[in-house]
Amino acid sequence: MIRQAFRRALLGAGLATAALLALPAAAQQAGQQAGQPAYPSRSITIVVPFAAGGPTDTVTRLVAEVMGRDLGQPVVVENVGGAGGTLGAARVAQARPDGYTLLLHHIGMGTTPALYRRLAYDPVGGFETIGLVTEVPMTVIARKDIAANSLAELVALVRRDQTKINYANAGIGAASHLCGLLLQKAIDAPMTTVPYRGTGPAMTDLIGGTVDVMCDQTTNTTQQIRAGSVKVFAVTTPQRLPALPEVPTAAEAGLPGFEVTVWHGLYAPKGTPAEITTRLSRALQAALRDEKLVARFADLGTAPVAQERATPEAHRAFWQADIAKWRPVIQAAGQYAD
Ligand code: MLT
Repeated sequence: MIRQAFRRALLGAGLATAALLALPAAAQQAGQQAGQPAYPSRSITIVVPFAAGGPTDTVTRLVAEVMGRDLGQPVVVENVGGAGGTLGAARVAQARPDGYTLLLHHIGMGTTPALYRRLAYDPVGGFETIGLVTEVPMTVIARKDIAANSLAELVALVRRDQTKINYANAGIGAASHLCGLLLQKAIDAPMTTVPYRGTGPAMTDLIGGTVDVMCDQTTNTTQQIRAGSVKVFAVTTPQRLPALPEVPTAAEAGLPGFEVTVWHGLYAPKGTPAEITTRLSRALQAALRDEKLVARFADLGTAPVAQERATPEAHRAFWQADIAKWRPVIQAAGQYAD
């Protein structure tokens, strides 16, 4: 039905009303069928499956603002945090597939299908892909008064005090959870995990000294590192970052091969018409070309993906490959959420 309405609307573009003409050109391309409002005819909600003020929230709000301009409708952000991102993902998988409820989620979409053996939604079949957004480096950080001034000293401290050192994360399936697991495996010493609804609130506690260590995305840590509110030990990329040039890579700091980046993508509920996901993908591409957004991403240590990766097809292929990459790793580790 909706598919036909879009086709007819595109053919009848000459009948555009004055109201349609007032919308941005790209927004008008979705057309309008008599009795069928053009998409989008009202505000769109992007669900962030983590708390406000954290890295996913920051990326989403920057993207949403520019997408809204391109679509000619407000794009608002709703935070549905908890259970490592699965509560927010469930909300979107169960929403009407009409293009008005979307999900911006990260690498957790690749690990959750293996980590969670029982979920209230289908973590793979429940979604249509719209496009990849960014790949964000991570940083190993700690409260500023921790008794360690290098990664080697931090590792020695964790090995000595073992489970007395607290590690903050955003629940099983979060990037901070994955990075923490890889870090503990790399240094062969455990820490005590303290889960939050997102690393936004975890950062507040790290700054306040309630927790000791965290591995979090540069989109949440860069400003705190520059302000000296937390101590930084390493970036998890093969090269140093222009946004944090003084911070060594994990390899330089003594942990070769400890590399993690956090990819993000935009999703719609399964069954959302292809005309709508294609339109949303065009708006996403426009956002990722926006000069102010590119500059802001750079200041936060990241960059938008290339335009050809911000498409439903490229996103789906990448996501499927990521699920296939993590499943054997998680199964071998026997690390399940249930
Ligand atoms: C967040 O937005 O809070 C994060 O992406 C949490 C995480 O995955 O570590």
